[in-house]
Amino acid sequence: MSFKFNFDIDADGEDVETDGVETTPGVPVEQTPSNSSTSRVSAQLHSLDELISKLPPHIAFSPLVIPSTSTKSITIPRRELFDVKMQLMTEDNNPSTNPNQSFSAAFTDEDIRTNTYEGGLKSWECSSDLVKQLATDSEAWTNSPHRILELGCGTALPSCYILQTLLATPSDHPVHLTLADYNIDVLRLVTLPNLILAYLHATNGLPTTDPSVTEGPEETPEIELTPTLISDFLSALQSHKITISFLSGSWSPAMISLIHGGLDYPSTADETTYSLLLASETIYSPSSIPDFVDMIEHTLANTGKGYIAAKDIYFGVGGSVKDFVDIVEKKSWKWEILREEKRGVGVSRVVGVVSKS
Ligand SMILES: C[S@@+](CC[C@H](N)C(=O)[O-])C[C@H]1O[C@@H](n2cnc3c(N)ncnc32)[C@H](O)[C@@H]1O
Repeated sequence: MSFKFNFDIDADGEDVETDGVETTPGVPVEQTPSNSSTSRVSAQLHSLDELISKLPPHIAFSPLVIPSTSTKSITIPRRELFDVKMQLMTEDNNPSTNPNQSFSAAFTDEDIRTNTYEGGLKSWECSSDLVKQLATDSEAWTNSPHRILELGCGTALPSCYILQTLLATPSDHPVHLTLADYNIDVLRLVTLPNLILAYLHATNGLPTTDPSVTEGPEETPEIELTPTLISDFLSALQSHKITISFLSGSWSPAMISLIHGGLDYPSTADETTYSLLLASETIYSPSSIPDFVDMIEHTLANTGKGYIAAKDIYFGVGGSVKDFVDIVEKKSWKWEILREEKRGVGVSRVVGVVSKS
C-alpha cells in the first residue's frame, strides 16, 4: 500500500504541503494486504564502522530551524533529499556499487510504500515537536548515564538534537544511542549523515553561506566526508563516552532478541534495556501498532521513559494515538500527554510519555 500523507517539514521548521498529489491527503492510493509477520523484513544489527564504510564522499545539507519558544529556536542540520536521490541515481547506474536496487521509493512522490519503504527519508512534523519537548525536558537525558533507543528514526532529528547537545558540552556520563529504521538504506543515506552533521554543528565545523554574496542562486552547502573528519567524529564520540549502534528491519521478536545481545527475553537487565525511548510518527498503521508496543514492552527499562510523538489520527491509514493508548492502558502502563500542537485546521499532534511504573 502506498500513501501520500502530504506533510513533511521544510527548512524553517514549518509544515509544508508537498505537491503533485491527486488523492485526498492520507488516503491510500493503492490497496494491498497490510503489514503482517510474513512480510517482515529481517532485523539486523549494524555497527557504526559498517555504516561509515557505506557513506558517500560528500553530502549536501541545509539547516532546519525549529522555533522552540517565542524567542528561541533550535537549529539541526540535515542532509538534503535531492542529494540522497542523486546518490541513489549514481548507484543505480553502477550496479556493482548499488547495495539495494529495489529502493526506488525515494524516486517517487510516495511518502510510504508499505513493507518496502516506511517513510524514513523525510523529516515528519512530529519529530520537530519531539525535539521541542526534549529541549524542555533536557534534565531527562543530560547529567546521567543513558541508553537511548530511537525507533523508526528516519532522519533522526530527536537523536541528532540529543547528540549535538551532548557533544557541545563536556560530560563524563556514558551514553549509548541505538537508531532503528525499517530500511538499512535510510540508516546509511540520512540517519548517519545527519549524526555527522550534528557533530559538526556542535563543534562549529559546518561551512556557512557567504553573507557577501547577495546576488544569484545561493549554493547548497556541502561537506566532504574525509577520513580526517570521520576520525575526528569518532574521537569526539569517544571523548564524550558516546557509543552508537544501528538496527534495520521490522519491529519483531528477532529485533528485540538482537537488542538483548541474542539472549532470550524478557530481560530487565539495565545493560540491554533503554532508559529513554524516542519515536515520532510510528503509530500510523493499525497493523503495526502491536509490534511497536512489543518493542516498548521488551526494550524500555522498568524505570525508563518512552517519548512518543504522533498525530491524533492518521486519516485514510487508520492509526491513531487512541489505538496506541488503548493498548498501553491494557498493560497498566502510564501515559501522560506533555505537549499538544495544532496549526490551523490540521490534525492535532501530541507528544506523550509512556512508562511502565
Ligand atoms: C513516517 S516515518 C517517521 C520517521 C521519523 N521518525 C520522523 O518523524 O521524521 C515512520 C518510521 O517508522 C518506521 N517503521 C514503520 N513501520 C515499521 C515497522 N513495521 N518496523 C520497523 N520500523 C517501522 C520506519 O523506519 C520509518 O522511518
